[in-house]
Amino acid sequence: MTTYNLALIGFGGVNRALAELIRDEPQRFAALGFELRVVAITDLAFGSLVQGDGIDLAAVLAMPRGSSFDGLPGGSSDPRNEEVIKNSPADIIVEATFTSPVDGEPAVSHVRWALESGKHVVTTNKGPVALYGQELTQLAASNGVRFEYEGSVMSGTPVIRLAHKMLGGLELNAVQGILNGTSNYVLGRMEDGLRLNEAIAEAQERGYAEADPTADIGGSDVRLKVAILANELLGTNLQPSEVDTKGIQDITSDDVAQALGKGLRWKLIGEARRTEEGRVVATVQPVALLGDHPLAGISGATNAVSFDTDLLGPVTVSGPGAGRVETAYALVSDIIAVDAFVKGAVRA
Ligand code: HSE
Repeated sequence: MTTYNLALIGFGGVNRALAELIRDEPQRFAALGFELRVVAITDLAFGSLVQGDGIDLAAVLAMPRGSSFDGLPGGSSDPRNEEVIKNSPADIIVEATFTSPVDGEPAVSHVRWALESGKHVVTTNKGPVALYGQELTQLAASNGVRFEYEGSVMSGTPVIRLAHKMLGGLELNAVQGILNGTSNYVLGRMEDGLRLNEAIAEAQERGYAEADPTADIGGSDVRLKVAILANELLGTNLQPSEVDTKGIQDITSDDVAQALGKGLRWKLIGEARRTEEGRVVATVQPVALLGDHPLAGISGATNAVSFDTDLLGPVTVSGPGAGRVETAYALVSDIIAVDAFVKGAVRA
């Protein structure tokens, strides 16, 4: 059986959930024809740990927040990201650090170091994909490795790979989606009578919203995801700054109630569309949808994307768009894609 050595960059919720899956369910991976061994972990809080024979995941998962890898064999209180990414015996770098919407750092550097060192990268990080996706994919190809990022949009719900692999032979001219669970949850709770601030507080309590929910409510989280979908699926090279973006911060309880009275539902919609002249334009904005629209019935923190195809009409996929296990599954699906590449089933 093939063994892949992993380096986990960032040891927060998502990479911890992946480590738990590897610790608890080796049979899940054996059934796919490979074994996963974590040989390095780096984290701003814990520091770094490199053990070529495989890290004892039960032991590191049991370490309380605030402790350090310093003192363990191969451990340090310094994250040493560059050294670990370039020199650890990892085949696959699993990048799950904080997303910077401004410059994508430090994740962009992590991805570059890995690809230039001939290591595959799987990531859930929207920043590098939205800002430099095409460049990093080319860098991977020129180094004979893969750059995979299914979890950058809708966590483990397969959107990018599904559109690439399952919609072949169809002309795709637009994608439209509910791509932020927090804002969709908030709009739904406003339909139940809550005010915007009360609904945001509830979304934070439930762990959907970020500690600072500005990116969720103001639309900038969706802006990154729309840029990724436009570039992946409509063959363009948009920067997030070119996506005209408006969030739900100005929607009032009265707006929501009035719309409901007319059979309409406010949703924060991200859209990329090819114009008749062949240009791709992308927007993020609140839209009051008619009840029979494919996205009108998407409630709570669920996400959905509707592909506008020529032969099938709208094809809609819905599922979770966040969550630690759900996002860790996106990394698993990326590792499966790397395995297919390594075994010769997919060309660079
Ligand atoms: N805070 C985001 C959401 C999670 O609410 O959808 C992942 O981007």
